[in-house]
Amino acid sequence: MEEKKEIKILAIESSCDETAAAVVKNGREVLSNVISSQIALHTLYGGVVPEIASRKHIEKINYVIQEALEQAEVTLQDLDAVAVTYGPGLVGALLVGVAEAKAVSYAAKLPLIGVHHIEGHISANYIEHKDLEPPFLCLVVSGGHTHLVAVRDYGVYEIIGRTRDDAAGEAFDKVARAIGLGYPGGPKIDKVSADGNPDAIHFPRAKVEDAPYDFSFSGVKSAVLNYLNGCRMKGEAIVQADVAASFQKAVCDVLVSHALAAVKDYGIPKLALAGGVASNSTLRLMMQKACEAQKTAFYHPSPILCTDNGAMIGAAAYYEYQKGVRHGLDLNAVPNLKLGER
Ligand code: KG4
Ligand code: ZN
Repeated sequence: MEEKKEIKILAIESSCDETAAAVVKNGREVLSNVISSQIALHTLYGGVVPEIASRKHIEKINYVIQEALEQAEVTLQDLDAVAVTYGPGLVGALLVGVAEAKAVSYAAKLPLIGVHHIEGHISANYIEHKDLEPPFLCLVVSGGHTHLVAVRDYGVYEIIGRTRDDAAGEAFDKVARAIGLGYPGGPKIDKVSADGNPDAIHFPRAKVEDAPYDFSFSGVKSAVLNYLNGCRMKGEAIVQADVAASFQKAVCDVLVSHALAAVKDYGIPKLALAGGVASNSTLRLMMQKACEAQKTAFYHPSPILCTDNGAMIGAAAYYEYQKGVRHGLDLNAVPNLKLGER
C-alpha cells in the first residue's frame, strides 16, 4: 500500500486581536505557531478597538507568516494548502487574513481552505491528544462564544446549547473591569481568585427554562454590579479577590453542570474544553473532578492553544482538506458565520 503523504498546511488567523500563523503537519503536529498579540495596545482602551486591530494585522501579517515558515523550516513550495479563518470575527480584522491567504494561494498555486474560527478552537484539542477522535462533546468558551457542541465526526457539529446573552469570556471581562482589574479580564480574575474565598458571596446560577444546555450570564454580571453598588452605598470595603473568586465559581458551576448533564443525556463519555476561557484554572479543576466522578474522559488544550492561534486553524483545515473542501479566490470574510456552514 502506498504510504500516506505528509500534508503540511500554512494556517492564518486574524479574526480578533492576535495576528497568527502556523505550519501544521497532518492536522496534529505543530511545526510552528507564531502569535503576535495586540493585547498591550488594546489595554489602553479597555477592550479591542476594531479599527486598530485591522491596522496592526496589516503591519504584522507578512512578518508573522515569514517567521512561521522559517521556524517550521519550510518554504511555500513544501506546502499542500493555505488555510485561513474567514469567520466569525471582526470583519476588518478577518479581511486582512483572508486577503493575505488568497494572495499566498494564488502566488504559490496552493489550494485555499477557509476555516470557521470555532471549528479551530475545537480542533485545538487534536494537537495534544493524539488519541482524541469524534464523537465527543465540546464546551467552547471564548470572548465571543459559549457553545456546547456535539462533535459527531470531523467537521460535523451539532450545537446543543448556547448562551442567550453574554459569552462566558465577555462576562469575565466585564466583571474584571467593574472590580478594577482592567483588560483582558479573564486571566486577571483567574489570578486574583487564588487569594479569594469562592464562597464569600453567593451569585446566581442561571438556568434557561426548557433549554437545559443553554446559558445566560447577564444575570450573574448584573448581580456583581449590584453587589458592588450596595457595598459602595453602605460604605463597606470591597474585597476584590472574594468578588472575583465568587463570580468565577458561579460561572464555572453552571458550565460544569450543563456540560456534564449533556454527557449523561447524550451518552457520550468524552468531554473537551475549547476557547480562551478553557485556560481558566478553576474551570479545568472543577471539570476534571466532575468528569472523574462521571467516568468521563476529559480533554483540554494547553493555554497557548486555548486563546486564538494559527495552529488550531491548521488542525481544523487538515480534516477539511481530507474531505476535499476547497475555496475559490472569491472567498470573503463572514463576520457572523455559523458553525457547520461553508
Ligand atoms: O478564544 P479567545 O482568545 O478569543 C475569542 O475567540 O473570543 O478568548 C478570549 C477570552 C477573553 O474574554 C478572555 O478574558 C478569556 O478568553 N480568558 C480567560 C482566561 N484566559 C483568557 N477567561 C478566564 N480565565 C482565563 N484564564
Ligand atoms: Zn477565539
